[in-house]
Amino acid sequence: MNVKMKTLVAAVALTFGFSAGAMAADAKKWNEGGGEQGDALKLTPNLENGVEVYEVCSACHLPEGWGLPDGTFPMLAGQHAKVTIKQLADIRALNRDNPTMYPFALPSEIGGPQSIADVAAYIAKLPMNPKPGLGEWAEGTPEFEHGKKLYADNCVRCHGANGEGIPDKYYPRIQGQHYNYLVRQFEWIRDGKRRNANPDMVEQIKGFSDDDMKQVMNFVSRQKPPAKDVGPEGWLNPDFD
Ligand code: HEC
Ligand code: HEC
Repeated sequence: MNVKMKTLVAAVALTFGFSAGAMAADAKKWNEGGGEQGDALKLTPNLENGVEVYEVCSACHLPEGWGLPDGTFPMLAGQHAKVTIKQLADIRALNRDNPTMYPFALPSEIGGPQSIADVAAYIAKLPMNPKPGLGEWAEGTPEFEHGKKLYADNCVRCHGANGEGIPDKYYPRIQGQHYNYLVRQFEWIRDGKRRNANPDMVEQIKGFSDDDMKQVMNFVSRQKPPAKDVGPEGWLNPDFD
């Protein structure tokens, strides 16, 4: 297929896909499973193919998987494979809107469920960004402390004491993610714009003001992943040199 043809196919899929996605949205239960998610979970990942697939992703998420500190592109490195599989399958099934990325995540670009399993396993092993984009409030400020308390009261049971997530429940690791990305996702989840969001989380956070949201995310962006999972500053991924 030439490039023009691929663009056309993507555009057609986008048009049809979005209307079908929107119609199916209400009927779908959170993490219903099945589809590509179910298929990918059963497969044994092949890391060599994971590198190949990841090349497409590296254009935006960077070869290191570190994303951009301004939050345009999230860090992917170190995310639990099950979480990445769910998110990718949701994006491909138009159950989570991501128009920027959608054309690059299609089966025609990267392959089927095996490729999802492979790239998710590859991403999980990448060392994490040592310098994520942070919120503005340093430890010890009243805003930091308020965010810390909100986190303890509302988030620990699902995202863990230090933002490490719970892989078997598909609860994402959020520690050390870029602040602007965190705020954007949280706002979309709170306001119902991220259709694949966990309904219990939506319920838990519906009373959050914009200040609460910023302060809890400031805290999350400053949570430190375990040192063994973090890359050295300036690390370049040797798979892509
Ligand atoms: C053209 C740029 C682009 C490309 C290429 C791209 N992405 Fe993304 N990706 C994005 C953007 C932008 C977001 C954040 C969207 C949002 O804010 O909801 C994102 C979000 C994601 C997320 C959700 C992260 C989370 O924490 O929930 C995953 C997973 C992901 N991308 C994986 C991939 C993989 C795997 C590939 C390669 C197959 C890929 N992306 C290729 C732009 C891209
Ligand atoms: C009942 C469990 C639950 C609670 C409570 C909860 N979350 Fe979540 N959260 C989830 C799940 C599950 C997802 C992934 C949603 C999906 O399926 O796409 C998520 C997604 C997120 C994301 C997006 C992550 C990404 O990589 O895109 C952020 C940020 C987040 N949660 C922050 C919080 C914060 C902060 C709190 C507390 C104020 C909180 N959550 C409370 C379960 C929960």
